Amino acid sequence: MSNTGLRSALAGSIALLLLTPVSTIQAAEQETKSRSQLNYDRARYDSIHFRPAIEKATNEQCLSCHQEIVDRKVLDQSPAGVKAADSLAWYQTLNTYEGPQETFHRRHMETALARQLMNMQCTTCHQGNDPREEAPIWEGAKEGDFKLRKMINPDTCLMCHGQFGHEIMGLPGPWPEVSETMGNSCLTCHAAIRTNRHQVNYLKPDAIEQAGSKDADVCYGCHGGRAWYRTRYPYPRHKWPGMAEETPAWAHGRPSESDARFLVGVKSNPQQTKQTQ
Ligand code: HEC
Ligand code: HEC
Ligand code: HEC
Ligand code: HEC
Ligand code: HEC
Repeated sequence: MSNTGLRSALAGSIALLLLTPVSTIQAAEQETKSRSQLNYDRARYDSIHFRPAIEKATNEQCLSCHQEIVDRKVLDQSPAGVKAADSLAWYQTLNTYEGPQETFHRRHMETALARQLMNMQCTTCHQGNDPREEAPIWEGAKEGDFKLRKMINPDTCLMCHGQFGHEIMGLPGPWPEVSETMGNSCLTCHAAIRTNRHQVNYLKPDAIEQAGSKDADVCYGCHGGRAWYRTRYPYPRHKWPGMAEETPAWAHGRPSESDARFLVGVKSNPQQTKQTQ
């Protein structure tokens, strides 16, 4: 708006104010005050949805407005009468699929398996996104121009839903084909290789080792058994006792530490303890 435009707009609203009866102004003020407690737009644009506040948000804070996220259950049958139990997706028939259908959020935070192995927070996945990008009227958009909605960085999902890297492990084929020759256990090799693992704030490393030593599907579940991607996640390669001096070609450029945001609050990370000693 040009300066003159701004000035005349201001003059306009001042004139309006002067013409408005005092009682109407007081009523409007009161309404704004009570609505400021829980107004849709204020809540939607609450600073907790954005960086930096979201980085420190707790589940309790998010759930104070979004309790439905963990309460909501899947329907027993669709409105058209199709029973949930009769319409399984391919992955829901695998050994790595546990129990009846559940909502996406409950799968990652509430189910027995999720609670046993993981310690996921809302902010493990939600790092803040701009709701304006979901509407055609974001700054700079042409009319009718939607930006693809992306609330979560898909790399986060890839960590647990990527392909099994049998090639780099020196295995002759995909895990389901070779597991028997490997004694049906990842620990045949991983009792000695890449043993410094899972020291991050969204996983329960001891519980994972315990469950994985009894059933390789626990490990495979997060490392190929529920692969929604055709690619593999480039895991950080933590130093481990007995590690070879030379870095294999496929591992060049890999970090040797987990992402910093996943180390916040981690006490048992051996590398961190070493540093603070
Ligand atoms: C003060 C209440 C409040 C708090 C606290 C809150 N939200 Fe929201 N959130 C809202 C409202 C209102 C909306 C808009 C809902 C809609 O349009 O359906 C929303 C929308 C969202 C959306 C959808 C965004 C979109 O653009 O469609 C996500 C994801 C979300 N919140 C996650 C979170 C997370 C994660 C936290 C904790 C860090 C959180 N919220 C804390 C009130 C809140
Ligand atoms: C495993 C990762 C993950 C975790 C953990 C997670 N979310 Fe989400 N959330 C998602 C994804 C993916 C979507 C869908 C995003 C989209 O549509 O672009 C979503 C959508 C939402 C939405 C909007 C859609 C809806 O279903 O209403 C809200 C609100 C939300 N999440 C809140 C939360 C809150 C609160 C928590 C913590 C209790 C949480 N999320 C934990 C991944 C996650
Ligand atoms: C830390 C590991 C981890 C991350 C990160 C993760 N998941 Fe999962 N996901 C799991 C586990 C474990 C299960 C199976 C839980 C069970 O069987 O109870 C699962 C199950 C699922 C399912 C099956 C749901 C069903 O019941 O049919 C979908 C879909 C899914 N994840 C998508 C995603 C997406 C999308 C993301 C990223 C926003 C994501 N996951 C991030 C570990 C993870
Ligand atoms: C034949 C021995 C062997 C078996 C069995 C085996 N692995 Fe591996 N695995 C390796 C080797 C070798 C590496 C690469 C080590 C390195 O970083 O130099 C590796 C690396 C990995 C990596 C890291 C990949 C990357 O890109 O950094 C994961 C994750 C992994 N294995 C999971 C598993 C799981 C889960 C199982 C069981 C389902 C399994 N492995 C079974 C030998 C094996
Ligand atoms: C709930 C999901 C989940 C389960 C179960 C799981 N992993 Fe992982 N694994 C991950 C994630 C996520 C990472 C990357 C963590 C990070 O950023 O450091 C990882 C990393 C690894 C790495 C790379 C280690 C490194 O940092 O150098 C190996 C090897 C590995 N896992 C093997 C296994 C084995 C063996 C089992 C079973 C005993 C198993 N995983 C069970 C999710 C899982």
